Amino acid sequence: MIKIAPSILAADFAKLGEEVKEVEAAGAELIHVDVMDGHFVPNISFGALVMDAIRPHTSLPLDVHLMIENPDQYIEQFAKAGAEYITVHVEACRHLHRTIQLIRSYGVKPGVVLNPHTPIETIQHVLEDIDMVLFMTVNPGFGGQKFIESVVPKIEALSTIIKERGLNIDIEIDGGITAETIVPCAKAGANIFVAGSAIFGKEDRHAALQAIKAAGEQ
Ligand code: DX5
Ligand code: ZN
Repeated sequence: MIKIAPSILAADFAKLGEEVKEVEAAGAELIHVDVMDGHFVPNISFGALVMDAIRPHTSLPLDVHLMIENPDQYIEQFAKAGAEYITVHVEACRHLHRTIQLIRSYGVKPGVVLNPHTPIETIQHVLEDIDMVLFMTVNPGFGGQKFIESVVPKIEALSTIIKERGLNIDIEIDGGITAETIVPCAKAGANIFVAGSAIFGKEDRHAALQAIKAAGEQ
């Protein structure tokens, strides 16, 4: 089953409460929360205080994507702000296994994110410990970028490994997802899709979200 996680990075920050309600009504399964620190990525977005503010406006699980250096220092804050998933970049974690355990210790589902150029071999020894792998299909830092197609074979390769090992791990895709680009990713075995501009950038969020989901379910 395909799940859609609209990214609030592309929403109107002046009315975030209404924005999350609208995509929840449109059929979203998760809300994707993009946290950027201006160090790990060349842009700054928002932190846990903004998550605290939207939490009462939706019952959907919050899927927190940390694009930050030193994630260990901030995990408690995001856990307390009500994260369902916290995903950290393998490129930002010196002690990845420790960070995963820390996330788990707060009762939050840990996930690991790979940049477009990062090989899946970097996470093969933590697959038993995580609930999600997030593949970036753009270079992180900005919404509205073009989908990088060369990531698709990585998705396929991981999906095969997950099946072979009998693991229960969600595969999430983030960056440039539309009703067209979702198709090869879903075929490759991904089941959760982040979409920012392709949903919040459209007048009719319901139609946009449902079109992406339907294309992924084909
Ligand atoms: C990029 C973020 C993405 C971004 C997706 O750094 O992690 O979640 O908001 O935006 P679109 O769907 O517009 O590529
Ligand atoms: Zn993201």
